[in-house]
Amino acid sequence: MADEMYRDFEGKRILVVGGAGFVGSNLVRLLTANVEDISVVVVDNLLSSEITNLPVTEKLEFREGSITDFRVLDGIKDEFDYIFHLACFHGNQSSIFDPIMDHDNNTITTLKLFETIKDFKKLKKVVYSSAGCSVAKKTFGDAVATTEDSGIELNQDSPYSISKIIGEFYSVYYYKQWKLPVVRARFQNVYGPGEMLGAGRWRGTYATVWRNVTPTFIYKAIHNEEIPLENEGIATRDFVFVEDICRGLMLCALKGESGDVYNIGSGKETSIAQLAEAIKRHAQSQSVIKVLPKRAWDNSGKRFASTEKSKDRLGFSARISLEEGLARTIAWTKENMSQIDQCIHKHDGHMKRLG
Ligand SMILES: NC(=O)c1ccc[n+]([C@@H]2O[C@H](COP(=O)([O-])OP(=O)(O)OC[C@H]3O[C@@H](n4cnc5c(N)ncnc54)[C@H](O)[C@@H]3O)[C@@H](O)[C@H]2O)c1
Repeated sequence: MADEMYRDFEGKRILVVGGAGFVGSNLVRLLTANVEDISVVVVDNLLSSEITNLPVTEKLEFREGSITDFRVLDGIKDEFDYIFHLACFHGNQSSIFDPIMDHDNNTITTLKLFETIKDFKKLKKVVYSSAGCSVAKKTFGDAVATTEDSGIELNQDSPYSISKIIGEFYSVYYYKQWKLPVVRARFQNVYGPGEMLGAGRWRGTYATVWRNVTPTFIYKAIHNEEIPLENEGIATRDFVFVEDICRGLMLCALKGESGDVYNIGSGKETSIAQLAEAIKRHAQSQSVIKVLPKRAWDNSGKRFASTEKSKDRLGFSARISLEEGLARTIAWTKENMSQIDQCIHKHDGHMKRLG
């Protein structure tokens, strides 16, 4: 199946916006490694990523800049078969600290990109990376699998999640009005090799360094440091390995119906406390787990995705179990520790000021 999928990208020209980031760089690496005849253009302003994330290959052209900059947009011509739009202002906490930066690097990215490409004739598909957190029910009671047609609440937890859902509104609008062939891929919580703690520029909060729960717990577990467990770790998430997400993105491009939306997740619910224990076990760590209060802004406590539609229509199911994925991520983290430490420590001055 995997080989068949890559064959469909032979001879194609692809644009990945936000392609130096965690998910984007994994996607670019898989495409350039598995497709012989492919040309990939990455546009990225390196706001939350490092240039070293990207593979070195003649198949790749890197254009540094913001997708909101008209000089960058002017360079995007009607020559692409597929476009993946993965740019965002990472992540929820940074967006609460600086909603304007979130707007400038998240909401408006989608509008300006779509305005630029709306008349393109060569395009087969545009894949927009949306987020399950924007549609999940706000509950700490028992979660039910979030389906693609679950209603969207006005009550959103952060400017980030507002931006992600606005991107979906634009996706639907540009499909209906301009026949832009946009498919929305609604990600669950992605983890895996390539998520570099501290990647990119300072974004105002500790979340610049401690990006997401999985890499944070892994880093602390490897160093036998205290692992912070907010709200006793009762929150649940659907953790999906980055290679699975990339496969889901490619399937959205190849098989997704324009105008439609697909959940890309594992369909499995794991509590943050279970995640912490699993990471401790795999890293053979002596870390102490420290219970902290709930984060005030995070109200979608328990959630996981329904995967029925993506399985039926795209033939997608996550292949990598949480156990295998964590083992691979821990191994990658150990191998890349000096680079991760460099990324973390470049923010030392800012971190000190936060106290
Ligand atoms: N990682 C997850 O768990 C997750 C979950 C749901 C949705 N998503 C979505 O998937 C996409 C990729 O996420 P990620 O985890 O790789 O994040 P990331 O921060 O690693 O990648 C985002 C990339 O976008 C770039 N970028 C930011 N502003 C830009 C701009 N104005 N112009 C061009 N590039 C810009 C950043 O420098 C970075 O390389 C995002 O859209 C995110 O919202 C991710």
